[in-house]
Amino acid sequence: MRKILTLILTALAGVAVANTQVATDINNTAESVAPAFTNPYKDAGNIPITFPHQPPLVPHSIRGLQVTKNTNQCLGCHSPEVAQTTGATRIPESHFMDRDGKRTEGASPRRYFCLQCHVQQTDVNPIIQNKFDTIRQTQGK
Ligand code: HEC
Ligand code: HEC
Repeated sequence: MRKILTLILTALAGVAVANTQVATDINNTAESVAPAFTNPYKDAGNIPITFPHQPPLVPHSIRGLQVTKNTNQCLGCHSPEVAQTTGATRIPESHFMDRDGKRTEGASPRRYFCLQCHVQQTDVNPIIQNKFDTIRQTQGK
C-alpha cells in the first residue's frame, strides 16, 4: 500500500513540475533585450559621482576612440603630460600605482583599459527600473 502511495505521489509531483512555466529559451526573456544605446551624452560636463571611489562617468562621446594593445587615445588627452593643454581631467595618482601600491613609470597597466571602469551614459528606457538614490538624495541635501 505504502509503495503504491509513493508511486502516486511521485507521479503527481511530476505533473506539477511539468505544469510550471519554465523559460527554456533565454533569448526570449524580457531581460535579454538590451535597450538600444544610440545617443551617448556628447558634452555633458562632469557628471557628479554617486558614491565614494566611483570611477567618474565619461561625460563626452568616445566614438572612434581606440584603446588597443598599441594605442590608447584616452591618454592622448588625459595623461598628465598633455592634460593642461587639452583641458581634460588629469588621470589621478591612483592610476600610477601597481597592485602593491608602488608607483609605476607611466599609467599603470591595471588602468590601461579605461572603459573597463569609466562608462558612457545615454538616455534609455531601462528594462528594470533602477531606484538607486545617493545618500545625499535620500537625505534631501
Ligand atoms: C579630445 C580629448 C579627449 C579624449 C580623447 C578623451 N577625453 Fe575624456 N575628457 C576630456 C575633457 C575635456 C573632459 C572634461 C569634461 C568635459 O569638458 O566634457 C573629459 C572628461 C572625462 C571624464 C570625467 C572626469 C571627471 O572627473 O568627471 C572621464 C571619466 C573621461 N573623460 C574618460 C575618458 C575616456 C575613458 C576616454 C577614452 C575612451 C577619453 N576620456 C578620451 C577630453 C578627452
Ligand atoms: C580599474 C578601474 C579603472 C580603470 C581601468 C581606469 N580608471 Fe580612471 N578612475 C577609477 C576610479 C575608481 C577613479 C576615482 C578614484 C580615484 O581618483 O582613483 C578614477 C578617476 C579617474 C579620473 C578623475 C580624476 C579626478 O581628479 O577627478 C579620470 C580623468 C580618469 N580616472 C581617467 C581614466 C583614464 C583616461 C583611464 C584609462 C587610461 C582610466 N581612468 C582607467 C578607476 C579606473
